Amino acid sequence: MSVGFPVSRIPDPSQASPLRWGILGPGGIARSFVDALAKHTRQRVVAVGSRSAERAGAFAAAHDIRRAHGSYEALVDDPDVDVVYVASPTGQHHEHALLAIAAGKHVLVEKSFSRTAAEAAEMVAAARTADVVLLEAMWTRFLPHIDVVRQLVGDGVLGEIQTVIADHGQLLTPGAAPRLHSPELGGGALLDLGVYPLSFAALILGTPDSILAAGEMATTGVDSTISAVLRTGGAHAVVTTTLTARTPTTASISGTAGRLEIAADFYTPAELVLTTQSGSVARKVDRIRGHEALCFQAAHLAHLVEEGRRDSPLLPLVETVGIMATMDEIRRQVAVG
Ligand SMILES: NC(=O)c1ccc[n+]([C@@H]2O[C@H](COP(=O)([O-])OP(=O)(O)OC[C@H]3O[C@@H](n4cnc5c(N)ncnc54)[C@H](OP(=O)(O)O)[C@@H]3O)[C@@H](O)[C@H]2O)c1
Repeated sequence: MSVGFPVSRIPDPSQASPLRWGILGPGGIARSFVDALAKHTRQRVVAVGSRSAERAGAFAAAHDIRRAHGSYEALVDDPDVDVVYVASPTGQHHEHALLAIAAGKHVLVEKSFSRTAAEAAEMVAAARTADVVLLEAMWTRFLPHIDVVRQLVGDGVLGEIQTVIADHGQLLTPGAAPRLHSPELGGGALLDLGVYPLSFAALILGTPDSILAAGEMATTGVDSTISAVLRTGGAHAVVTTTLTARTPTTASISGTAGRLEIAADFYTPAELVLTTQSGSVARKVDRIRGHEALCFQAAHLAHLVEEGRRDSPLLPLVETVGIMATMDEIRRQVAVG
């Protein structure tokens, strides 16, 4: 019997009703996010906030955004903003998400969600009290190919899952990527890159029963390489991340009935190869590719608001906090401050 791929259930991002977005932190990823929304959604970016009025103005002019605010406080207080995209460095997510929540805005927070599980739990509690949507911008979760992975695993096509292997390594020197080498800004391989394979492992195997980690530190004071084995029941996830080399950046799931491989870069729209006893079949990369696919997380948040939901079924907040707890434990084992 031949085995094929199910159809992705992720809606076209242009279907979601428009929300009015405010951008907090006009840096590199904010640029990609705004471009992705303009190209593939009906979401409207109406305001940008920066610590500097000049930077806010320049970003607004470059992206045709109506209002530029010279402080984050002014951005979150803007009555025309429904939802704030927190795109500041990871070390600042906790402070900036709380600021937006206190102003009664829905919030999409870049990955990693926070520095620690304690920070994440505080953000979640504040969002529940304020009755707003809070979502981790782990964009992989909302992509069509990941929904296909979810269905194949859920339908038992791979049998009983035995191993999940995923990596994310890039060569990012202090000169090229100062943010990633700053402990104050929440740098380090784990928080910046390792969160992708860890979130993937959590998607497939859930919360680990036990964690075994090893790590190396850079002279800048951040973790530069981390590897971890996460056990859930009898299944193992093996995850590795580094700032010191470009690794394959692929993922695989192996079970008693088959294997699913996600090509590089697995956390972006990528090819799938499914191998079972009846042979191998490939699924091509989806139409919306690279950082343009950041549009899916925005559309997902807009659907949550439309449906009056406060938590995402694709990435519930309890799971976001759980992934932060896994990273806390890994950092404890490798003594990252
Ligand atoms: N999803 C993805 O593919 C992806 C890719 C890259 C990064 N990210 C995540 O997005 C976040 C931002 O990364 P990025 O690469 O866009 O960083 P970036 O280019 O350095 O931009 C960060 C922005 O945050 C603001 N900011 C606020 N407090 C700051 C501080 N103390 N130091 C420096 N900047 C500060 C700055 O804007 P103003 O000073 O003008 O306000 C700056 O433009 C990180 O959490 C990162 O993990 C996600």
